[in-house]
Amino acid sequence: MTSQELREKYLQYFKSKGHAIIPSASLIPDNDPSVLFTTAGMHPLIPYLLGGKHPEGKKLCNVQKCVRTGDIDEVGNTTHHTFFEMLGNWSLGDYFKNEAIEMSFNFLTKELHLPLDRLACSVFEGDNDAPRDNESADIWEKLGVSKDRIAYLPKDDNWWGPAGTTGPCGPDSEMFYWTDDTVLAPKKFDSKDKRWVEIWNDVFMQYNKNKDEKYSPLEQKNVDTGMGLERTLAVLNNLNDNYLTDLFQPIIKKIEEIFIKKYDDTPEVTRAMRIIADHIRSATFILGDEKGIAPSNVDQGYILRRLIRRAIRYGKQLGIKEVFTFKIAEVIIEKYKNVYPELQKNKEFIINQLISEEEKFSKTLGRGLREFEKMKEIKGVDAFNLFQSYGFPLEMIEEEAKKRNLLFGEKEKNEFENEFKKHQELSRTASAGKFKGGLADASVNTTKGHTATHLLLAALRKVLGEHVFQKGSNITPQRIRLDFSHNEKLSSEQISSVENLVNTAIQKNMPITMEEVSLEEAKNIGAMGVFEQKYQNKVKVYTIGDFSKEICGGPHILSTGELKSFKIIQETASSAGVRRIKAVVGK
Ligand code: ALA
Repeated sequence: MTSQELREKYLQYFKSKGHAIIPSASLIPDNDPSVLFTTAGMHPLIPYLLGGKHPEGKKLCNVQKCVRTGDIDEVGNTTHHTFFEMLGNWSLGDYFKNEAIEMSFNFLTKELHLPLDRLACSVFEGDNDAPRDNESADIWEKLGVSKDRIAYLPKDDNWWGPAGTTGPCGPDSEMFYWTDDTVLAPKKFDSKDKRWVEIWNDVFMQYNKNKDEKYSPLEQKNVDTGMGLERTLAVLNNLNDNYLTDLFQPIIKKIEEIFIKKYDDTPEVTRAMRIIADHIRSATFILGDEKGIAPSNVDQGYILRRLIRRAIRYGKQLGIKEVFTFKIAEVIIEKYKNVYPELQKNKEFIINQLISEEEKFSKTLGRGLREFEKMKEIKGVDAFNLFQSYGFPLEMIEEEAKKRNLLFGEKEKNEFENEFKKHQELSRTASAGKFKGGLADASVNTTKGHTATHLLLAALRKVLGEHVFQKGSNITPQRIRLDFSHNEKLSSEQISSVENLVNTAIQKNMPITMEEVSLEEAKNIGAMGVFEQKYQNKVKVYTIGDFSKEICGGPHILSTGELKSFKIIQETASSAGVRRIKAVVGK
């Protein structure tokens, strides 16, 4: 079975059971300050799991693109990925355990024809927060799963969520497949035996984890399921390595061609090729997302940078000298463009960013190596600086230290980890703060900032041209910041023209009006914005006189006069092909 057949089969099965098929949402979550990426199909659905009414009804299914970097060190084995696709079906207060488990069972055994004697499952054993899930175990047993193949496991294994630090979550029931062809599946299921591979998870989302770490029951009982496309595809094709499936084969072939090596040359080569394939696939999807992220030192951009640099580092290990990541991305775009058209649309951006990041990294690597030459000893803090300033991954520091007979043992590694954690804390706080500035904090100043950003974008398009699109924005009470697509530094005349246009719009005291329309209508009336095919529901379009029309969640002031005045305080490059402007209002 091919990947496309599996996606189709899944969606059609759940459609036949009354589910509406919804498109994949962006990889960048909309309203969740606690996570950088969409990590599961349920993530974009959180408002509806909490009781909001979904325009497509109470039963939904989709294929969601996801990024998880928590297990990045495991990547290189046969089953772990940083990017993956999740097949999911949801009940928003509609069906519960009985129907969910029965549909899962039937899909696995009747649609995918997986033999029952190679299946096992687990259920929640119960604790102070929620009772033992005998109910799910009984349902599995009634369907024909033997008692021995049903394990009761604790929260660590059989509880899912919340996706961030708070939110909907609950006990789950996971399904496993015996992957070893050389021996019959043991009668008794042992979840520690790695040959049992988890392929699907039915979560019974009936709790909310609150800020105080307590769990309170949700009024609406939901079902959230997730099946890993890559793993299931491997299982269905009797492959014990996800990279041998059609999803990865063209990518691996390209890597073999670039490096003039075979995938199975040595375990080191296999691992390096897997890491390169995995990381460049993630990078391609992050760069090519509807919300187009570029490499940087913060938030999503930082994770992206690490993925690209880690792939390059493994490329160097395989002996490559020239720029190579974009060649792999081209194959990935080709493979996925029919399912994710945004990759084709953003192809130029993806390729340009990869090339520029690879060139940048090569330069800093050289400088970092020179730093290394000067060192007489290397402490954890020095190692972290090499990591932080020159992009040296830990394993590379270890290797380079060894080459130079510098001691870099457990103690130094621990120091490094501590520095790393400190930095993570900082960047986490920073990103939480940033999101707060952008979303939750609706003070008068930030509300003004939102409106000023619309005026600025419209003015930039009038002065520079229609190629200008918003690439990012960040608003604090003190200033606004807008990243937009444009290749060159703005001249002082251009900056004055933009300021003048915005100030004229302010003086005209234009009203700001809002209408809720469908995405299609928004497009037709020429509204700017991210036309992300998330739901078929309505979007808010904010209109400022005849000056600007943009899709936006708000909030906005009532008329432009409230801004008083507008001034650009800085214009710099943000990344290749993207400029950044900082500006203030009312000063
Ligand atoms: N949200 C659940 C998971 O990711 C289904 O496993």
